[in-house]
Amino acid sequence: MAGPGKGLEGVVAAETAISDIDGKEGVLFYVGYDIHDLAEHATFEETIYLLHHLELPNEQQLGELKDQLGREREPNQFVMDLLPGLSANERPMSMLRTAVSASSAKDPDGDEMSEAANYRKAIRLCAVMPTLVAYYDRLRNDEKLVTPDPNLTQAANFLYMLTGDKPDDDHARIFDLCLTLHADHTMNASTFAARVCAATLSDIHSATTAAIAALKGPLHGGANEQVMKMITEIKEPPKARAYIQKRLANKEKVMGFGHRVYKGVDPRATWLRRMSSELAEKAGDGTFFEISQEIEKTVHDEKGLYPNVDFYAASVYGYLGITTDIFTPVFACSRVAGWTAHVREQYADNRLIRPDHAYVGPDPRKWTPINER
Ligand code: ACO
Repeated sequence: MAGPGKGLEGVVAAETAISDIDGKEGVLFYVGYDIHDLAEHATFEETIYLLHHLELPNEQQLGELKDQLGREREPNQFVMDLLPGLSANERPMSMLRTAVSASSAKDPDGDEMSEAANYRKAIRLCAVMPTLVAYYDRLRNDEKLVTPDPNLTQAANFLYMLTGDKPDDDHARIFDLCLTLHADHTMNASTFAARVCAATLSDIHSATTAAIAALKGPLHGGANEQVMKMITEIKEPPKARAYIQKRLANKEKVMGFGHRVYKGVDPRATWLRRMSSELAEKAGDGTFFEISQEIEKTVHDEKGLYPNVDFYAASVYGYLGITTDIFTPVFACSRVAGWTAHVREQYADNRLIRPDHAYVGPDPRKWTPINER
């Protein structure tokens, strides 16, 4: 049983106008727009704009944002020189953490902390992170780099840089929706980490680096990779139930289930389940989807838990041909939109984040000289 304050459950850590969740009702809003409405209508670029400006863009504003994203996709030379070494030696999230941190070195806005400079840095981070992930993947596979195409959307361009082929409309649309669904989620661990860092008035690259470090863990963004490992181990749908029952009997968690805030259905999982089913049909291979469904049924029967965003994201990414160990970096390429919006919101009305504690150590005592210990 968690002690009082453990995991800061129920603690309001910041006021935000960016997103809101009602965990009991299973609803998520970005700036007042229901995620279901956004999933049906918004593009990821519109979502980035919404999170940063708290309004939907008109055509001109959207056009400007797309141009800026298209212009800023190439990593600077300093980072390009680091990438081969990182690709040979680092796991994907460690590469991303280091490369994003290093990106500050040659940022055209340098150390400037004005509102305008921080917005430009934010969009630059959104633009460059997918390129870092795609270049990393191609470098480690000894493949020629595919330079970004400024005319493609964030979603289509990422799949293009990763695979070397322009995605068809279905894949581009589905991946775009994945990016929209992952873009923000109130005071999750990585966003909180970003805000804690920003609240010291550290720079936006440092705050984003802190967020990536927090997202990396298997209890947060790293869960999607673990889900795919589980699906791969299960291999066939009829083996799923026994596999999950054994896992639960061993008191192991089933990754991709449970949530601190949602106690019922995560609305993002509903869309991801639908996309997984659609991609299974398109691929003519239902294995990932059917195993996922069996896992979902078993975890619900045994524990009453529902899938979170990471669960069906795994099979969707698998069907899109994304290698399992870059699932979490892909998540980061979307969530950077929310992180940077939260960092700018924190700067705009800042107070150092410094929570209190409950001391559980020994009572005050006298120093013991070393020869008496
Ligand atoms: N599998 C099995 N049991 C679970 C799971 C799970 N995935 N999640 C929660 N439970 C059980 C716990 O064992 C606990 O049971 P107990 O009271 O008998 O000890 C109870 O449900 C409450 O779980 P906590 O871990 O205390 O819940 P908390 O709010 O601290 O953690 C978390 C939430 C970390 C998401 C948790 O559900 C979990 O570890 N899930 C698996 C990892 C995962 O999918 N993470 C991604 C979350 S979404 C995201 O970050 C993008």
